[in-house]
Amino acid sequence: PYPVYHLMRQAQPVMYMEQMHIWSVFRYADVRTVLSDYARFSSQYGQSGVPDKSASAEARHGSSLITTDPPRHTKLRSLVNRAFTPRAVEALEPRIKEIAHELIDQIVERGARSLDGPHGSHGAPGHNSVHGTFDLVEDFSYPLPVIVIAELLGVPSSHRKQFKEWSDVVVASADNMIGGSNPDSGRVHQEMAEYFHHIMAERRQEPKDDLISALLAAEEDNEHLSEADILSFCWLLLVAGNETTTNLIGNAVRTLLEHPDQYAMLTEDRSLIPGALEETLRYRSPVQAMFRVTTEDVTLADRTIPAGERVIAWIGSANRDEERFAQADRFDITRNPNPHIAFGHGVHFCLGAPLARLEARVALETILDRLPNLSRINDDPLEPARGFIVHGVTSLPLK
Ligand code: HEM
Repeated sequence: PYPVYHLMRQAQPVMYMEQMHIWSVFRYADVRTVLSDYARFSSQYGQSGVPDKSASAEARHGSSLITTDPPRHTKLRSLVNRAFTPRAVEALEPRIKEIAHELIDQIVERGARSLDGPHGSHGAPGHNSVHGTFDLVEDFSYPLPVIVIAELLGVPSSHRKQFKEWSDVVVASADNMIGGSNPDSGRVHQEMAEYFHHIMAERRQEPKDDLISALLAAEEDNEHLSEADILSFCWLLLVAGNETTTNLIGNAVRTLLEHPDQYAMLTEDRSLIPGALEETLRYRSPVQAMFRVTTEDVTLADRTIPAGERVIAWIGSANRDEERFAQADRFDITRNPNPHIAFGHGVHFCLGAPLARLEARVALETILDRLPNLSRINDDPLEPARGFIVHGVTSLPLK
């Protein structure tokens, strides 16, 4: 998409896409404004494009952080903030390390078995290069964040196939914002509601040391939080927190392999890992776009967007804006400062950013320690993740 973004920033930085009835915003400064100016760009975007602020809509669907504006948003956010502060998240590091090592143990064991097996190195000389292969996405970058989030919420991580299916459908239905509809969407919402309803009933009976129990306790103390709110928060975490982090890890490894000099630097100096992750967030932003709806007529880059219109803020384009970043198309793990907006900007700034950064750092450290000299199996084009909002690959076969 990057040449297209470049063209749009030059030629049509604010553009009305007639067929889709939606406005697109491409420049860094404008994208930041759209993301953070909640008075004029509301997050209460419904399918219709009309802000739905009715109390009945909230009661029906519960209100999700990501689709509410202040003051309601401020209340919801303060209830969950505590579980996600950098301090709270740091405490998870030992467990995240353990999970990362367990996943790599499985990859290594499988590689060793394939070498010993009937078709191993004795049987097929010349084919050694296919041994010890694995899929970074399926075997590592997908399971890692799902297990972490499931443990945090207090739901069995063994249900992760189910979470994956739900999350795929929900991510794909975000594309409905620009037309089309997803027939599975209703079924999936129903299934998720039943699943979490059941877990919540169990936790009400017998609270545990997990986020769902903590939210239920908050619900009892606080009339502003309903079971529907807790439900929508749980699935927001499962969806927002998983595919995004999977793609950050996958995009980081993929991009490092494309830039062997930077990969070599990182191997020599692990203190560069956080910078490499920030640069991946900028260079290949896992979330390429977010939606808003205008509450009044707004003029941006000399175009007036009327009230009640849907807007897409192109984060992926903002992060490559040459007005803001020198040599914006260059991947540079030592870039400093790096004011990317891959986690958004303003009151909706990603709740899970400290967790995503920690998981991805542990992931890269573990990969560098345990799987040295990684390379692609071949140069076949990689299959992009489904949906235009997320940016990543569905599979990254490596040896
Ligand atoms: C919000 C990106 C990981 C939970 C956001 C937003 C972005 C984003 C761009 C702003 C949405 C907006 O302005 O409308 C990412 C990226 C991630 C990531 C790139 C990984 C690399 C996570 C994780 C969690 C999470 C791990 C949870 C554990 C949330 C939540 C919100 C949010 C709950 C809504 C916050 C609010 O509206 O106040 N994320 N996210 N995210 N993210 Fe993330």
